[in-house]
Amino acid sequence: MARTSLLLLAALSVFFSHAYAIHTLDGARPDKAASDGVDTKVYIVFTERQPAAAELSELHAGASVASFHHDLLSDVLDGSSSAPDRVVYHYSRSLHGFAARLTEEEKNKLAGKDGVLSIHEKVVYRPQTTRSWDFLGLPQQNDPTRLPFENDVIIGMIDTGIWPESDSFSDEGLPPPPAKWKGVCSKNFTSCNNKIIGARAYKDGNTTWSPLDLEGHGTHTASTAAGRAVPGASLGGLAAGTARGAVPGARLAIYKVCWDDGCSSEDILAAFDDAIADGVDVLSVSLGGMIAVDYSSDYLAIGAFHAMRHGIVTSVSGGNDGPGLGTISNVSPWTISNTIVVAATSTDRKIISELVLGNGKRIVGNAITVFPNLGKRSLLVDPGKCGEEELGGKRYKGAVLLCGDRATERAIHGSGADGAIVASLDGDNDDIAFSYAVPTILVPEKQYDYILAYYNSTKTRLPMATVMNSATVMDAAAPSVASFSSRGPNRITFGILKPDISAPGVDILAAWSGQASVSGAEIDGRRVPYNIISGTSMACPHVSGVAAYVKSVHPDWSPAAVMSALVTTATPVTSGAPEAELAYGAGQVNPLRARYPGLVYDASEGDYIGFLCAQGYNKTQLATMTGKAGTKCPADTGAVGDLNYPSIAVPVLNYGVGFAAEFPRTVTNVGPTDSVYHAKVTSAPGIKVTVTPDELAFSADNKTLSFTVRVSGSLAPVNSTLGASASVVWSDGRHEVRSPIYVFVHKHVM
Ligand SMILES: *[C@@H]1O[C@H](CO)[C@@H](O)[C@H](O)[C@H]1NC(C)=O
Ligand SMILES: *[C@@H]1O[C@H](CO)[C@@H](O)[C@H](O)[C@H]1NC(C)=O
Ligand SMILES: *[C@@H]1O[C@H](CO)[C@@H](O)[C@H](O)[C@H]1NC(C)=O
Ligand SMILES: *[C@@H]1O[C@H](CO)[C@@H](O)[C@H](O)[C@H]1NC(C)=O
Ligand SMILES: *[C@@H]1O[C@H](CO)[C@@H](O)[C@H](O)[C@H]1NC(C)=O
Ligand SMILES: *[C@@H]1O[C@H](CO)[C@@H](O)[C@H](O)[C@H]1NC(C)=O
Repeated sequence: MARTSLLLLAALSVFFSHAYAIHTLDGARPDKAASDGVDTKVYIVFTERQPAAAELSELHAGASVASFHHDLLSDVLDGSSSAPDRVVYHYSRSLHGFAARLTEEEKNKLAGKDGVLSIHEKVVYRPQTTRSWDFLGLPQQNDPTRLPFENDVIIGMIDTGIWPESDSFSDEGLPPPPAKWKGVCSKNFTSCNNKIIGARAYKDGNTTWSPLDLEGHGTHTASTAAGRAVPGASLGGLAAGTARGAVPGARLAIYKVCWDDGCSSEDILAAFDDAIADGVDVLSVSLGGMIAVDYSSDYLAIGAFHAMRHGIVTSVSGGNDGPGLGTISNVSPWTISNTIVVAATSTDRKIISELVLGNGKRIVGNAITVFPNLGKRSLLVDPGKCGEEELGGKRYKGAVLLCGDRATERAIHGSGADGAIVASLDGDNDDIAFSYAVPTILVPEKQYDYILAYYNSTKTRLPMATVMNSATVMDAAAPSVASFSSRGPNRITFGILKPDISAPGVDILAAWSGQASVSGAEIDGRRVPYNIISGTSMACPHVSGVAAYVKSVHPDWSPAAVMSALVTTATPVTSGAPEAELAYGAGQVNPLRARYPGLVYDASEGDYIGFLCAQGYNKTQLATMTGKAGTKCPADTGAVGDLNYPSIAVPVLNYGVGFAAEFPRTVTNVGPTDSVYHAKVTSAPGIKVTVTPDELAFSADNKTLSFTVRVSGSLAPVNSTLGASASVVWSDGRHEVRSPIYVFVHKHVM
C-alpha cells in the first residue's frame, strides 16, 4: 500500500514528506492508452442537457444520454476505435457531460461540435476528536429530542472510503434511512447499515471497486462529521475521551474517489453526479488542488455549483500550504456549498513529546510517540545526518540515532535504530505533531546543538537517551491558526473573503481504518481503531457536521443561508496570525449559536450567476458552471462585492492610498417576526465604516430588508499586520449577526 494518505491529509511535515512526496504530488495516474494504442489523455466534456432525457425513466434516460455522448464522440473518432471504449464516465444524473480518453486532435474536433459547452483536461486532487467538540461548545449530552431530527440528515463524504467495522459507525437504535434517500451500496460492499446508508467507489470509470478505506483519511473525516459517541477512545492513551461526531444521529453516504495515486477529477465529478441525485443534504470534501484556479476550471467548484442548485451544502478544506498569502485553494463563493473553506485552529490540548538524556536533561520536542516503552538506549550520531544514501546499509541496532534534517523515515527504519532524534531546522510547523513509523522526536536547532554537545562531552563514557511516549497538556493559548493552514486572499476574486470560517484541525482523534498504520507508512506495523492526525482535512468535517446540525433544525434553508448562519455566529479569533481574517475567516465555528442566527444573508443560483458575470465570465465559462448554453447575465452587472455574502473583503491598491467602496446587502429575518435590529460597527484607525439605514424593523410583511455598507479611508501598515479588520454587527438585543470586514493590499499576492 502506498503512503499517500498521510501526506494528502496531514500538513506536509518538513521532515520525511520529502522522501515520499515526489510520487504523491506528481501523482497523476498515467492514462491508460485506449485499447488501440493511440496516445490519449482523459478530458472532461461538458455538454448541454439532453432535452429528450427529461421525459424518460432514469434507466432509459441514462441510455439515451449515453447514446448522445457516443454519437458526439463517434463523429470525431477515425473509425478504428469505438466511442464506448473511450468513455470513462457519463455524467447524467445531476451534471451533464462525460469523461473520455481523447487525443489532442480528437479533443479539438469535439470542441467545435453543437451541444459541447467546454472541454477540460483532467486534474488530480489531494486529500488535504474527542476534545474538539467540547472545545467548540457542542455539549455531548445535548437535547435528546435532537436525535430524531438528525436522523433525517445525510452527509455525503467524498474521500478515501470508509472502515465500517469501527464502533463510530454502529447503527444501534437508528431507524431505516429517510425516504428521500435514493442511493445504493456498492455490490462489492456488504457493510451498509442504518448509519452508513450508501457506499460507492469510482476509479478510472470502474465503479466495482470496494469503497473500503485503506488509508484512514475517509474513516477519520466521516467519524468527525457524524460518528456515534464512543467512550474510552484514545491513541495508546493519548487524547483519551469520548470520540464523537457533530451529528451522531446523521447518516453517512460514502463516495470513494481517492486511491493511492490521488483523487482524479473525472472520479470526483462522477461522485458529485451521484451524490446530488442520491439525496444527500451536505457534502464534505476534504480535498484540494495545488493552487486556486478559475471557477470554471475547478472541478470541486463545478460539482459544488450543481450541489448548490439542488440545495446541498458543500464544505471543502482550504489546504495545508500556509502560511504564505494566497495559498488557499478552494475559493468559490456559492453557498456554504462550495464556500465554506476551513482553516484549522487548535483545540485546547497540545501533544508534547520528551526525550531524556543520560545526564538527566529533559528535552521537549515534537511528535506523536505511542510505542511500547523504549527505555534507555545508547545515543549515536550519524555523521551523514541519516540521509538515505549515507545511512544505507549501516547498522545501528538498539541505538537512538541523532540525525540532521536530511533524515528519512525509511533510512532510519533500515538502519535498525530503536529511535531517532531529528533536527527541525526551519522551525516551521512546530505547532503540529506527526506520527512516525520509528519512535522519532523532532527538536529545534538549539536543542539539537545541545544534544550534540552532550554527545561530544561524554565520548569517554557512554552517551544515553530515552525517547518518551507523548503526553497531552493543556494549551492555554488556543485558539490560534496553525502555520500550515492555507491563507487568503482569494486569488480568483479578491473581493470575496476566504477562508470563511475556522474549526479544529490539529491533533484530532477520530476513527481509523484497520488496514492503515498509525503513521501511514508501510513499514509501520501498528494498527489502531482511533488515530490522531492534523490538517484542514480535519477542520472540514467539523464544519460539515455543524452545517448538518443547522440543517437538522432548518431542513429548508438554502446552502447560502446555512453558510451565513455559520459565518455570522462564529467566535472571532482575536489573537494570532498577522493575516487576521485571511487566516481565520469569520472566526471559530460555533454550533449552538449557528442554529438560531436571527438574520441570514441568502443567495440563489441567479445571484451566483450575477457574481460570475461581474467576474467577467464569458458565455462558455458560464455554460460550464451552469450546464446551460443560454445562461445570460443580468442587464445590470454589478461588482463582485455585490454578492449577498455574509462577509466583506476590500482589496485596495496600496498603503496610504484613499479608497471608498459600497456593498449592498439584504438580510432575511429567521427569528421572531417583529424584530428590530440596530447596526454597530467596529473599525481600525484610518478606516471608516457606515451602514445605511442603521435600523431594520422586520414585520410579517417585511421579512427581508436591505442596507448598504460603505467602507472608506486609507490603509496604514500597523505593527506588521497586513491589513485592517472591521465589522458590522446587527443586534436585536438577543442575536448578534456579525459580518467581518477585511481591508488589505492585494499586490502582496502574486
Ligand atoms: C473493475 O475493477 C474490478 C475490481 O474491482 C476488476 O476486477 C475489473 O476487471 C475492472 N473492470 C475493468 C473494465 O477494468
Ligand atoms: C471487490 O473488491 C475487491 C477489492 O477491491 C476486488 O479484489 C474484487 O475484484 C471486487 N469484486 C468484484 C465483484 O468486483
Ligand atoms: C561535536 O564534535 C564534532 C566532531 O567530533 C564537531 O564537528 C562538532 O562541532 C561538535 N559539536 C559541538 C556542539 O560541540
Ligand atoms: C472565454 O474565456 C475563456 C477563458 O478566458 C477563453 O479560453 C475562451 O476562449 C473564451 N470564450 C469565448 C467564447 O470568448
Ligand atoms: C417595509 O419596509 C419598507 C422599507 O424598508 C417600508 O417602507 C414599509 O413601510 C415596511 N412595511 C411594513 C408593513 O412595515
Ligand atoms: C502597536 O504595537 C505597540 C507596541 O507593541 C502597541 O502599544 C500599540 O497599541 C500597537 N498598535 C496597534 C494599533 O495595535
